[in-house]
Amino acid sequence: DWNSGNVIAEQVERIRQQVGTGRVISALSGGVDSAVSTALVHEAVGDQLIAVFVDHGLLRQGEREQVENDYVASTGVKLITVDARETFLGALAGVSDPEQKRKIIGREFIRAFEQVQADLVAEAEAEGEQVRFLVQGTLYPDVVESGGGAGTANIKSHHNVGGLPEDLQFELVEPLRTLFKDEVRAIGRELGLPEAIVGRQPFPGPGLGIRIVGEVTADRLEILREADAIARAELTKAGLDNEIWQCPVVLLADVRSVGVQGDGRTYGHPIVLRPVSSEDAMTADWTRLPYDVLSKISNRITNEVRDVNRVVLDVTSKPPGTIEWE
Ligand code: XMP
Repeated sequence: DWNSGNVIAEQVERIRQQVGTGRVISALSGGVDSAVSTALVHEAVGDQLIAVFVDHGLLRQGEREQVENDYVASTGVKLITVDARETFLGALAGVSDPEQKRKIIGREFIRAFEQVQADLVAEAEAEGEQVRFLVQGTLYPDVVESGGGAGTANIKSHHNVGGLPEDLQFELVEPLRTLFKDEVRAIGRELGLPEAIVGRQPFPGPGLGIRIVGEVTADRLEILREADAIARAELTKAGLDNEIWQCPVVLLADVRSVGVQGDGRTYGHPIVLRPVSSEDAMTADWTRLPYDVLSKISNRITNEVRDVNRVVLDVTSKPPGTIEWE
């Protein structure tokens, strides 16, 4: 019967067989799949593995620290962080169209990753070694969805900024290929990974970039990050994490409305709360959150986050609304 300890032992053995003494690269996203697949490979081959984390500046509060501090502390993985925040902001300047944002973010991600990859390959060559392997956090449902082909070219590209260059000359290491999400989480816990990563709700690859309706700027990102952190903290405090599939928090940066705060008139932006319940994200219903929790979130956001004077609740199911606003 299924037991995370057995799966770990079995996968570690397989990875060692596949990789031998070769070097391996992995891209961490902050999400559970890449975190667990990387930890498994590290368990198997130790410092033959180098993990790369691209900070695109579209992360939520604390996510980079979770990877750089907590994840590294719990695994001992060798990590390179690429600080690409300026590059991404520059590339996104003046862009409001959602699909264009996605394209730009995907393209910049690949560029940033290719740069480190080239450095690592050169470094290995100078030492008479070769980087031959790339870790992918492909799960069983991804395998089924994309036709089940094994091998090198079948890189998960759908819907994901984990989407890596198609022409990579790497052999893939995919230790999660036979597993479902719950099993991946169980393995992550068994490996001692931080709960904030293992239990994380889905978060899109393009990050906060597709939760700002309008142009993405540093200032707007800061506002959204603060509002999002408040909503997440209050939902967790109320014990609601397991009832919610995910709760996008969206900044309507192109909308202003009149408000009154203190003894003055304000002209600020609305924040949208989009809590949804779902099995697989294909369909979803809006989650009936308790009024007192909504009230607490609304009060805190309007009191603590500058330029926000209104909090609204999205009560649309999917369909017709998507989960994200962009
Ligand atoms: P929608 O908005 O289409 O979202 O109802 C369904 C699920 O997919 C996530 N999502 C994305 N994930 N890249 C991703 O990696 C994307 O571009 C993207 N767009 C949406 C969304 O958060 C939800 O879980």
